[in-house]
Amino acid sequence: MEEGKMKMTGDRDTCFEREECESFIFEKRREEEEESTQEEAEGSSGRRYGAEEKQEEERMGSLDLTDPRISSGRTAGARTRLTPDAVINLDHGDPTMFEAFWRENGDKSTIVIPGWQTMSYFSDVGNVCWFLEPEFAEEIKKLHRLVGNAETRGRHVVVGTGSTQLFQAALYALSPPEAAEPMSVVCAVPYYSSYPLITDFLKSGLYKWGGDACTFKSDTPYIEMVTSPNNPDGHIRQSVINMEGGKTVHDLAYYWPQYTPITEPADHDIMLFTVSKSTGHAGIRIGWALVKDSEVAKKMTKFIEVNTIGVSKDSQLRSANILRTVREGHEASLGGETDKFFDFGRRLMTERWNKLREVVKHSSIFSLPEFPLDYCNFVGDMCTSNPAFAWLKCEGEVKDCEALLKSHKILTRSGKNFGEDPKYVRISMLDRDEVFALFIERLSNIN
Ligand SMILES: Cc1ncc(COP(=O)(O)O)c(C=O)c1O
Repeated sequence: MEEGKMKMTGDRDTCFEREECESFIFEKRREEEEESTQEEAEGSSGRRYGAEEKQEEERMGSLDLTDPRISSGRTAGARTRLTPDAVINLDHGDPTMFEAFWRENGDKSTIVIPGWQTMSYFSDVGNVCWFLEPEFAEEIKKLHRLVGNAETRGRHVVVGTGSTQLFQAALYALSPPEAAEPMSVVCAVPYYSSYPLITDFLKSGLYKWGGDACTFKSDTPYIEMVTSPNNPDGHIRQSVINMEGGKTVHDLAYYWPQYTPITEPADHDIMLFTVSKSTGHAGIRIGWALVKDSEVAKKMTKFIEVNTIGVSKDSQLRSANILRTVREGHEASLGGETDKFFDFGRRLMTERWNKLREVVKHSSIFSLPEFPLDYCNFVGDMCTSNPAFAWLKCEGEVKDCEALLKSHKILTRSGKNFGEDPKYVRISMLDRDEVFALFIERLSNIN
């Protein structure tokens, strides 16, 4: 198959991950805090900055991702070559770790789309979600059936430009249009740092960010985001508020076997999934929602219609093909890990978590969350969680874990972005092998 024909998302300036945008916003705040955090970092790591390092700090402040000395997913297509002093960027959840699997399975997942195809706005005019490619809808249902992680019977599938768009579509669909006050959107701390940003970005009259669900006291209507496994801490979650007039949206981006035991098919009113985290294809920008209520599905569809007049068909067809490749790899009775995506993902995540836990075990500074063993129906055995992010805590005197790691050329995201203490940081576990190895080496040298 001629790979060149599928160059749809290759342009480095058109493909921009949600969390990258987010990090630029946070970088502004970081610049303001730079001086004070730098002082703390110097104190806690016991090292001083020279003029050259100061200059480098300033560069990092603007996070120029084209800088070859900062590792980033934009090097996709060519394997990263890191210099020993490279800044490693584990701030984003960019899932480049899975590239190795798709390199092996490139032929099976390659498609060619001739110039005359996918020209119409419409995909399936009889369906509630009229821009959903039927082939993609079928593959979504088949993959959920295979993995056993979500109930699809009696559900509408709504496709979005990433689950980021579906989150916004859900907020629109669940907020009463004529309410006197905007609906509060809440989530238990620590919550995914994009929720408050997206919710308040356009200062909507329909909804507003309401903060920590655990301390939400108002008796007014609300939307609770339930992220399970949770970003950033990896724990399995249930809704924490149960009040009249409340709505829940389950963000199940990480409810896949490489990250957590699949204990039952999730069965909620609105469930969000994304190819970014399920197969690692963040650049395709495709997510899907499984929605019980027809009226809610219609309103979500309306939001996307008004927002972007549908969702790229090319991306949907490519996603269908990728989900099919995953499913067929697991259905084949022969073949090893090279064909079975979730086996590959589970092995790599387990190896990485074991390495990280080993370093943390011998450290007097850091700690990590623990996860219980549970029976995974997909694997057919007891398994533990290997989350996409490490929620690392600095114990003792260190007040600002992000600043400490930054002084060792490791970029992470501070706990304060997740409604938590800056003693915590979120670290991506999904980068390429070379970056992860350098991270482990550097972490083990921080005493
Ligand atoms: C919990 C959660 N939901 C949604 C998203 C965004 O997914 P997408 O790339 O499909 O917009 C992320 C990305 O990091 C996430 O962690």
